[in-house]
Amino acid sequence: MTAFPEGFLWGGATSSAQFDGGFSEGGRGPSHMDHIRYYGRSHPEGQRTMFLTPEDYEYNKTHQDELYFPYRKGSDFYHHYKEDIALMGEMGFKVFRMSVSWSRLFPTGTEETPLPAGVQFYHDVFRECHKYGIEPLVTMIHYEIPAYLTETYNGWDSRKTIDCFVRYAKFLIDEYGSEVKYWITMNEINMIMHIPFLGGGMFTERSERDRESCIYQALHHMLTASAAAVKYYHDTKQNGMIGLMIARLQNYPETCDPKDALACQEQSRFNYFPLDTAVKGYYPRFILNYFANNGIHVEMEPEDLALIREGTIDFTAISYYQTDVISAQEEKKEPIGAFIRKLKNPYLKQTDWGWGIDPDGLRYTLNDMTDRYGVPVFIVENGIGVTETINEDKTVHDDYRIAYLNEHLKAVRDAIHDGADVLGYTMWGCIDLVSISYCAFAKRYGFIYVDADDLGNGSYKRYRKDSFYWYQHIIETNGESLE
Ligand code: BG6
Repeated sequence: MTAFPEGFLWGGATSSAQFDGGFSEGGRGPSHMDHIRYYGRSHPEGQRTMFLTPEDYEYNKTHQDELYFPYRKGSDFYHHYKEDIALMGEMGFKVFRMSVSWSRLFPTGTEETPLPAGVQFYHDVFRECHKYGIEPLVTMIHYEIPAYLTETYNGWDSRKTIDCFVRYAKFLIDEYGSEVKYWITMNEINMIMHIPFLGGGMFTERSERDRESCIYQALHHMLTASAAAVKYYHDTKQNGMIGLMIARLQNYPETCDPKDALACQEQSRFNYFPLDTAVKGYYPRFILNYFANNGIHVEMEPEDLALIREGTIDFTAISYYQTDVISAQEEKKEPIGAFIRKLKNPYLKQTDWGWGIDPDGLRYTLNDMTDRYGVPVFIVENGIGVTETINEDKTVHDDYRIAYLNEHLKAVRDAIHDGADVLGYTMWGCIDLVSISYCAFAKRYGFIYVDADDLGNGSYKRYRKDSFYWYQHIIETNGESLE
């Protein structure tokens, strides 16, 4: 059996909106995520956190004193970064995936020069990482744009956001290029098709375009902006790699009826097409036909297409949590978990948040992506979110997490054995953080427990769970100790 390669990048992942806190420190401006309030898991409209309407947004903004906004506090990494990175060092991390908060550097996203406190903060974070031999893997935007851009331009709906992002990305590359070897321009770029507010910082209702045209136009702006950053990275001859990420939604046909297989293929094409475009440098024919056949109008300037052609990525990045079953009969789907309508897979167990546990699907996906792209793939998110409490003696016996990770890492090892080209693995939410689907602490992923509740009560102290020691040993043995 092939082992994990020498230099395999073991680590963990967070995002600024969900983890950092320090909401207004150093002059930081609000991001669009900072106006999402807590609704509560049991609230019938709990998922509103992902599907905010313009009315919700206005209400939240005008009632700030009465409401609680979990993203503003996150896990308070802003004040705990030294301790947190030391804990990562203790686990033996080789890489820490994190994201920069755009509005910590450029409060409205339109300034020419960044805030000194923000610039210094990231130098400090990268310095701490290097102290423990940890390479930062930096996502330029992880579901977070300055609120000003949402309010003034309707986020990625506008071409103006391209210029703002490119200025920001160039600054990051110039300022931190020698400290950061791995970059991802955008988190889960494909999710804008499902959650346009979160992914695009925009309200489709506010656009001059119809809903689908708005989504695909925004996606085109994002692909163009991402390619411009990639091209700049290459043109300035940086010593590292730059990639783009999708949420990988592996799916299976429900039966061997060719109609189910065709429906499954179509889903897969939608899932992959942003990455196809970023790796190959041009839009796949199927999506252009889809636009034409469905009256979807996407304006693509010749200079956009030139950038997309010239700014192709060095590696692909994925989050991988679950798989889907596809039937040609859409009506068979039923709601599962927070916002997804799915067909249940009878062969899989599910987490208590309704997400199917499918390690084999990860092997399938890694093999598939290696064949499809011919560039390495980085698994930058995977893990299990659970409702968890800490024992009186401050222990958390998370054997379910160890079991989940053990199976998924064996699947990674098997895929490498099959020939998949995998750069590394960063477990999602390595230190507990605020969940995206519920904007709350209720769903925990970490190796490290954070003493905080959904409403921001708690000491925010950190405690090692059993999985902390388990992962430490996995890294120490470069995966040899997987059972
Ligand atoms: C990914 C996102 O889709 O899923 C993360 O990039 C998110 O930001 C993660 O936290 C898990 O989702 P949730 O809803 O369990 O937090």
